[in-house]
Amino acid sequence: MHSLNPPETVFGRGKMPFMHIGPWSLPNPVFVAPMAGVTDRPYRKLCKALGAGYAVSEMAASNPRLWNSVKTSRRIDHTGEIDPIAVQIAGSDPAMMAEAALFNIEKGARIIDINMGCPVKKVCNVASGSALLRDEPRVVAILRSVVDACRPLGVPVTLKTRTGWDQTSRNALRVALLAQDIGIAALILHGRTRCDLYTGQAEYDTIREVKQALSIPVVANGDITSPEKARQVLDYTGADAVMIGRAAQGRPWIFREISYYLAHGVHRPPPTYGELRHVLLDHLEDHYSFYGEFTGVRTARKHIGWYLATLPDTQPVIDHINTLESTGEQMRTLEHWFDAQASHEHIHPPHETPAHEADLYTL
Ligand SMILES: Cc1cc2nc3c(=O)[nH]c(=O)nc-3n(C[C@H](O)[C@H](O)[C@H](O)COP(=O)(O)O)c2cc1C
Repeated sequence: MHSLNPPETVFGRGKMPFMHIGPWSLPNPVFVAPMAGVTDRPYRKLCKALGAGYAVSEMAASNPRLWNSVKTSRRIDHTGEIDPIAVQIAGSDPAMMAEAALFNIEKGARIIDINMGCPVKKVCNVASGSALLRDEPRVVAILRSVVDACRPLGVPVTLKTRTGWDQTSRNALRVALLAQDIGIAALILHGRTRCDLYTGQAEYDTIREVKQALSIPVVANGDITSPEKARQVLDYTGADAVMIGRAAQGRPWIFREISYYLAHGVHRPPPTYGELRHVLLDHLEDHYSFYGEFTGVRTARKHIGWYLATLPDTQPVIDHINTLESTGEQMRTLEHWFDAQASHEHIHPPHETPAHEADLYTL
């Protein structure tokens, strides 16, 4: 990692930056990153309840032919979500992207986020996600088209991107300035290029450079795994907020831990086993009712694995849970397991994201 000596920042060391997106003031500058297959409605609600200042709904396709799929219909279901509801869209056709923005606004979106940061093959192959970074005229056309469609409705548009296509073409600053001119309300920047995927370490020099050049809010993203790291990244880059992805998997309380540390400069205690039980079981109830029995039991497995992976000696119970085929059995197994842990008090989650988590989102 680069040395993180703080420059002069607009908010100074030790203070919480004030964060807004268009007309929306956010309660704190600690955001949960959009993660397809992870940040569904139950998980976003949970992260917000546990201190995330902002959450973005998983990517919705811009292709209207996909709007009737079960996947899309789940993604556009915002029942019970706390405002501002933000929805991410991805695609390469400017008119279709504008249409997707309007479709999502009609379904409740208050903020539209454009994804130009996603390295998944199925997204990049159709020249969307971060592949767009190689085609600046198209970037401009998409941003204009979406901003023009959203402006009359008073809906701000944000852009999430990476530092460039590869190390030799790091054009984030140019893209950021274009985006600001077009009327993008905030920029979220992951400190890696598309070709870096998740290898190496995120760098924060580009984020700092972009922040210094822009007047709109800038959100720093990439490898922020602890309260101290969040503080360092905010101080170094001068960014207005941090966005946390993989480090929040199985640790939704990370948001309150980071916000508390940013506000007070000291740590709040980690959750107890009792709290973990409560958070996980409540999460599962909500997850099952969102997905139903068949999909619910299967999609819950990864969350359970992430929660339990933060605790010692849990591989046998994780392996067993992965064999269970009903939500009832899954729930009962966890209840029994927690009953047997009654002697433990606080959990001590690792401060660094385990390597296997980074593998989940490669090509
Ligand atoms: C499983 C997974 C799914 C993701 N899906 C999306 C997505 O749909 N849209 C997007 O903009 N970024 C997506 N990302 C990238 C994250 O939003 C974030 O930029 C990246 O993980 C770096 O942050 P982190 O180091 O805190 O994890 C995804 C990441 C992961 C791990």
